[in-house]
Amino acid sequence: MPAMSKAKLFTDIGELMTMKGALKKEARNIQDRDLSIVRNAVMVVEKGKILWVGTKAKLPRTYSKLKKVSCQGMNVFPGFVDCHTHLVFAGDRRHEFELRNQGVSYQEIARQGGGILSTVKATRRASLRELHQIAQERVNHFVSQGVTTVEVKSGYGLSAKDEIKMLRAAKTLGKARVVTTFLGAHAIPKEFSSEKDYLAAMLKVLEKVKKEKLSRRVDIFIEKGYFSASSARTYLKKAQELGFDITIHADQLSNSQATALAVELGALSADHVICLKAQEKKKIAQSETTAVLLPCADFYLQCDYPDARNLLDYGGRCALATDFNPGSSPTQSFSFLGLLARLNMKMTLSEVFVGMTLSGAYALGLEKSVGALLPGYSADFFVSPWSWKSFFYDQRPLPISQVRRESKLIHKSNASFN
Ligand code: NIG
Ligand code: FE
Repeated sequence: MPAMSKAKLFTDIGELMTMKGALKKEARNIQDRDLSIVRNAVMVVEKGKILWVGTKAKLPRTYSKLKKVSCQGMNVFPGFVDCHTHLVFAGDRRHEFELRNQGVSYQEIARQGGGILSTVKATRRASLRELHQIAQERVNHFVSQGVTTVEVKSGYGLSAKDEIKMLRAAKTLGKARVVTTFLGAHAIPKEFSSEKDYLAAMLKVLEKVKKEKLSRRVDIFIEKGYFSASSARTYLKKAQELGFDITIHADQLSNSQATALAVELGALSADHVICLKAQEKKKIAQSETTAVLLPCADFYLQCDYPDARNLLDYGGRCALATDFNPGSSPTQSFSFLGLLARLNMKMTLSEVFVGMTLSGAYALGLEKSVGALLPGYSADFFVSPWSWKSFFYDQRPLPISQVRRESKLIHKSNASFN
């Protein structure tokens, strides 16, 4: 069969999590059966895409002669999608951790010139090359935990030059699939006194971002002391006119009607969604906007967690992401993320898996190509000796023996897991 000469057959799969049911339900109202696990499975892959999945017994004969890659009885999962990170940054904020631990709030530290602006200082000083190197190590660490798609925001440059530098550093990252987001509207730098002037300057940067194809997404931090919902509405509408998808840091520390704005504008996602009124929870749950839950940040800020149960029970689509950043969420751990989602947000294990895969793909507008293991989807997956039922219970690093993106090996571990 010459046309399929490069196709491969992944065999000896114990359990293969396809997400077929979850996809049918657009990642809402998830039950265990929606993970659609196939036992004794095989998967046919060609040119990085899945051609066929199913039980070994039902493999069409045309595929049986293909080159085989044995998964040695282990289990295959869709690669995790981390749909919200700030992983390009220089320096750290250890000193602020100590202050916060002694009772100084995140907002108070920001008012004193720390917080986001302190990372801006360090990031402006770093070269593109340095930022790229640090960021690539962080991506590698994500990959070793089964992450195959990672979103990366700018937002620690806050000037045309430095925002572009951050996006360039992110754009050339390898191994995982990287989705960049322009977050010029993360905070107002000292050089500007009004949010209107600053947002006008950021709109100019957006034109450059578009021209250089550095990102197709725009984010803004709507919060007291940062950006108001009304300025954000004008800014985001202009971004949409330029052809950008939008997402919002919404209602994290106080209610700023940001989630309602996300729904109104048809944002791909509203992220954090903690300080919501009952009506707003219903509104986002019944909309096409994905609610991105970031429990690691809530843990580090010791604040309330979003009302995941209500959002999910109203039929909402909830993604889970790390929000990895040096201030509110200095962790890349998926093991910890899953544990927090279960313990502190009462998500079921199947909701956690969908939240870390298909729902994350929805938040990035990639639900037609990643987040599930079905024909037509990218062959982005990891292999683990654990059954899905063993995940997110203890705090050991996840036992991941290999990770593949578009079927190419991007991580391999020789550890003997037990
Ligand atoms: O998602 N809330 C705004 N942005 C980040 C924090 C960034 C920082 O503190 O450096 C967040 O929590
Ligand atoms: Fe964030």
